[in-house]
Amino acid sequence: MSDRPAMREPVLQLSRIVTEFRGTKRFLAPAPPPIVAVNDVSLEVNEGEVLGLVGESGCGKSTLAKTILGLYREKSGDILLNGKEVSGVEPRRARRLRSDIQYVHQDPGAALDPWWRVGGILHESLRINGMTDRGERDRLIDEMLEAVGLAPSFKRRYPHELSGGQQRRVGLARTLILRPRLIILDEPTSGLDLSVQATVLRLMRDIREQFGLTYIFISHDLSVVERMCDRVAIMYLGRIVELGTTGEVFARPRHPYTHALLEAAPSLEPGQLDRAKMIEGDPPSVRKVPAGCAFHTRCDYSEAACVEAVPPLEETDGHLVRCIRWPELRARLATA
Ligand SMILES: Nc1ncnc2c1ncn2[C@@H]1O[C@H](COP(=O)(O)OP(=O)(O)OP(=O)(O)O)[C@@H](O)[C@H]1O
Ligand SMILES: [Mg+2]
Repeated sequence: MSDRPAMREPVLQLSRIVTEFRGTKRFLAPAPPPIVAVNDVSLEVNEGEVLGLVGESGCGKSTLAKTILGLYREKSGDILLNGKEVSGVEPRRARRLRSDIQYVHQDPGAALDPWWRVGGILHESLRINGMTDRGERDRLIDEMLEAVGLAPSFKRRYPHELSGGQQRRVGLARTLILRPRLIILDEPTSGLDLSVQATVLRLMRDIREQFGLTYIFISHDLSVVERMCDRVAIMYLGRIVELGTTGEVFARPRHPYTHALLEAAPSLEPGQLDRAKMIEGDPPSVRKVPAGCAFHTRCDYSEAACVEAVPPLEETDGHLVRCIRWPELRARLATA
């Protein structure tokens, strides 16, 4: 989708976002240090683009998403939505201020109340958002079900009577009726068969065009990211380590971690889930972040200086990388 014009107005601007969780306190033990799940994240999402967010399990993707939504309060940093400051308020107010942003949960089954029929779920969502006229709600619900390719009869079904692909469609419909500008899709195709995955991706693409939406697309699956995203941000233990256009990041990765992720995916065939696990070394955890460059413990190219300080995020030609050795490694890491 890289044929679309890249530079438009930013819908969302994040500047130095930090999100922490309190560590689990053990009886009589001193208070544990906080877990920094999102650490100093800055990025912009431009109108109409699809920005990919990639990284291994536990690196903070969903936490970043929920911070953007206002479900978690950022400890520090600024969030601008449509150019307006929305950061620094408590979650309930934050969520209201950020109603232009909606979220499609990474587990669509769990996100739908099992005791409610699809119609009830969609009505409730509209009612909570202030649409009191039942007839109007009915009309909108039919329209949105049609947009996601479901017949009106699906309103009478319960979530467990739906396939994984249909649950995602309902999740999308519920999101769309709230008229967002930006949708955060969290692992939108995990657990789906290949053919269903392809249909759901196509649907997301069509809906984006039809409704003029902007997406943040969270995924482990690099082949899907390559197909869907205009730009991609790579996260490692809470920090962005690389960010650039999808073409550049995939063809000429600058960070050894991105390179390792791509290497761990020998062929970019769809559907190979969780290939990141194949990277050697201990699986990372934000509970115990290595000093300096957090990736140094698993990096083939690390040297003494990598342990001393967190590398800055450096930019050339709009491509960001957080590795002190990138200029010399550049040629070696290029895949094309
Ligand atoms: N509510 C919470 N309280 C405490 N720790 C949390 C909470 N939510 C997430 N974490 C921790 O923060 C880190 C990041 O979690 P997060 O869910 O953002 O990862 P993720 O990148 O979305 O992973 P996955 O790919 O598995 O969905 C993890 O170590 C997780 O255990
Ligand atoms: Mg997640």
